[in-house]
Amino acid sequence: METFLAELPKIELHLHIEGTLEPEMMFALAKRNQVALPYADVDALRAAYQFANLQSFLDLYYQGAAVLCTEQDFYDLTMAYLTRCRQDNVVHTELFFDPQTHTARGIEFAVPLRGIRRALAQAEQQWGITSRVILCILRHLSEEEGLATLAQAEAYRDEIDGIGLDSAEVGNPPAKFARLFKRARELGWPCVAHAGEEGPASYIWDALDLLKVVRIDHGVRCHDDPLLMARLASERVPLTVCPLSNTRLQVFAHMSEHTILDLLDRGLCVTVNSDDPAYFGGYMTANFRALATHLQASREQLRMLSLNAVEACWLDDKQKRVLRERILACL
Ligand code: ADE
Ligand code: ZN
Repeated sequence: METFLAELPKIELHLHIEGTLEPEMMFALAKRNQVALPYADVDALRAAYQFANLQSFLDLYYQGAAVLCTEQDFYDLTMAYLTRCRQDNVVHTELFFDPQTHTARGIEFAVPLRGIRRALAQAEQQWGITSRVILCILRHLSEEEGLATLAQAEAYRDEIDGIGLDSAEVGNPPAKFARLFKRARELGWPCVAHAGEEGPASYIWDALDLLKVVRIDHGVRCHDDPLLMARLASERVPLTVCPLSNTRLQVFAHMSEHTILDLLDRGLCVTVNSDDPAYFGGYMTANFRALATHLQASREQLRMLSLNAVEACWLDDKQKRVLRERILACL
């Protein structure tokens, strides 16, 4: 099984680049940029990674992101993630970045994008890893602030492949961003949204019907609503599920209680992703391994999860055919 897990070609569709900031790099960048961190060392920081819920994680995640200042910082961060992709046989990745987290600190809008794009271009050239970039709007901020960010993004239309919605879910429903997503769609961007992570199944309905997203990030709370599960299955709406994230943030008390395989058996287009791997204890292979270890996922099921990600990703049909064949050849 371990060889199979390592060799299975993987496609990642739910990855916050700021969530790949490992403690060692956080300390190195804090030093480089003279940013103070409220922890004595890497071990003290790691010890703080005990999350009661999404908000307790977000508090640390935004604090950590404050060490990212220059284009080179974002390049180094992205290159470190892509090096992990290569080790885990992630052959295609569609990653999120949160520009508002950075512009709020006086970082120019283009700085993160330039660093991320430079690393992605190099990884495609050197290793053949293909990618897309999704700009995420922070839902704890106002729609007006989000619209201002979208207006800044317009000048970079060719470098941004889609628009997403993340951060504190409960109390910040999809309806709050209906105008913003309408505008994003008018500008030609495919849209995705975090929904049904901590928030109720109704947020998934609203992400589909009000925001008209093409994928749901997380979406595991659909399990509470049989009608919604039937719709997601019949329309093959992709769900970008993040197993290690869900157990670390107490969405499920234990991996053995995760419902991803049940959703797979019901015909939903569920996929496996790492979300914020530096904070949640593992990258893509570790997420697949958790399903094999705690849910006894078969090779056939793990292959199906990877094939679902091919279906759900934004590559063209020819590239998808090549990836499907590579996955099916992995026995
Ligand atoms: N930002 C980074 N990770 C997130 C998550 N799991 N949910 C919502 N917002 C996030
Ligand atoms: Zn996420």
